Amino acid sequence: MKRQWWHGKCAYQIYPKSFCDSNGDGIGDLQGIISRLDYLKDLGADILWLSPIFVSPLADEGYDIADYYNIDPRFGTMDDMDELIAEAKKRDMYILMDLVVNHCSDEHEWFRRACEDPDGKYGRYFYIEDFKDGKGPCNWRSYFGGSVWEPLPGHPDKCYLHAFHKKQPDLNWENPKVREEVCQIINWWLDKGLAGFRIDAIMNIKKALPYRDYPADRGDGLSSIVNMLHDAKGVGTFLTEMRDRTFAPHGAFTVGEVFDADPEELPAFIGDDGYFSSMFDFAPAIFGHSGQGWMLHSGITPDDYRNCVFDTQARVKDIGFISNIIENHDEPRGVSRYIPEGEACPASKKLLATVYFLTKGLPWIYQGQELGMENLPVSCIEEVDDIASIDNYKVAVASGIPKEDALRAISIHGRDNARSPFQWTGGKNAGFTTGTPWLRVNPNYVSINREDEAADEDSVLNYYRRLTRLRKDPAYAETLVYGDFVPWLQDRPGVMAYLRRGEDKTILVMGNFQKEPQVIPLPETGDGSYTVLLNNYPDLKKVPEGLAMEGYQAVVLHLR
Ligand code: GLC
Repeated sequence: MKRQWWHGKCAYQIYPKSFCDSNGDGIGDLQGIISRLDYLKDLGADILWLSPIFVSPLADEGYDIADYYNIDPRFGTMDDMDELIAEAKKRDMYILMDLVVNHCSDEHEWFRRACEDPDGKYGRYFYIEDFKDGKGPCNWRSYFGGSVWEPLPGHPDKCYLHAFHKKQPDLNWENPKVREEVCQIINWWLDKGLAGFRIDAIMNIKKALPYRDYPADRGDGLSSIVNMLHDAKGVGTFLTEMRDRTFAPHGAFTVGEVFDADPEELPAFIGDDGYFSSMFDFAPAIFGHSGQGWMLHSGITPDDYRNCVFDTQARVKDIGFISNIIENHDEPRGVSRYIPEGEACPASKKLLATVYFLTKGLPWIYQGQELGMENLPVSCIEEVDDIASIDNYKVAVASGIPKEDALRAISIHGRDNARSPFQWTGGKNAGFTTGTPWLRVNPNYVSINREDEAADEDSVLNYYRRLTRLRKDPAYAETLVYGDFVPWLQDRPGVMAYLRRGEDKTILVMGNFQKEPQVIPLPETGDGSYTVLLNNYPDLKKVPEGLAMEGYQAVVLHLR
């Protein structure tokens, strides 16, 4: 693997709508982000990915773009964006935007013109087909529920394809003019000084054509669009072209939202000359998911979590640099998902932080994760903003599931969980806004907030600061960034432990991933002595059999 400038960095995802509101309209904005750059720098974040801030009706919270060349006024202006890029540069930080080009918004000019003239130039930017006997060409189900086919406005005999919401018409990548537009957008932003992009839903750009039905997998007679994706061959041709015409000449950093890539495709995706610099590891996030909606998802235990992470590490090895996360804007909060119910506390949150952060790859922090922010309680469907949650709720209730159960599924899986406002203070609206927040604040802001945690040496926040500093410490960075990942006691229940083995140092990361204390053996290396680099408890008890670890104790040891 070729070494890259970003390997030793730490990345951070900002969900702008919920990060920091500078003008009191209840919506986070670019000036809010600028005002918090020093906070992020101090946390140790170097690369900042902003979820979409382009002009958008916000049907899918900005993942429906109506103008790729302008900032939505709710988030600020182009001057604000230029200022953010410049202020980040001053601090040796890098800004990534979200590249959402599988689809645009139905309010984008391209789509408006396609509706005016479906057979004209812009009609060919989309997948527009004829309805036959009132039906679209195939039975694919969109991610947010219902058929992917929607009547084309003004043309009741025609329909257009949307893999996501009906306000997100898919762009037809088979059309070279669409690919040309995409390259132009990317280059325009990179020329402005952007460091790169997080690339949204990218596996969806290739469709298996001609259209055909797949076996129905729910009572609605439709088939998950994922079945089609398994059949869609040739996405690499599009990705190669995009890389060669945009990212490569700019030396841009890119991270792909890649689901459904085959393991043997890893070198093509993130190898030295891969389509992307990196891609997210979603293995723990999708563990236990059923194709049948949230009601049938099963949970995940700490051992399952460990196994997912270790599998990924074994697959990626030295092929490339995977991006490690415990949450993002589409997932529940990591501490609510990976720590058993009722056991999320500062110790267990720090344990989870330790064991995921020091695995091999680029560590990402999602806003608020560094405070130990938790899932957002929900009491009725009217409170819910996320369209995926609303869809899952409707599907569940229609199939006879009691409303309380459907609501409970939202509280576990819903996307609002991670989207509630950042908890800056214990004051009104958690200090996020002086106005009315667009989404309710998690009531636990009185105890989980940046102000209090900054003042508390033992807080989750200060623990994250120690983690980022450790990974960048010149004495250990070589080992923690490039050292081999070697599992330790892989089959032992309630333990997540591994070595990072470099040329001249070996570091052990070990967590007692359960509330009961246990004695965990140490690997036999060197003279058996060690230096403690990090410990989420005040003490560490050595016994003849190994370490007597407290419930949820995690340590990082330099083994001599
Ligand atoms: C990605 C985004 C998600 C969005 C979807 C459609 O999965 O992360 O938030 O809804 O793509 O753009």
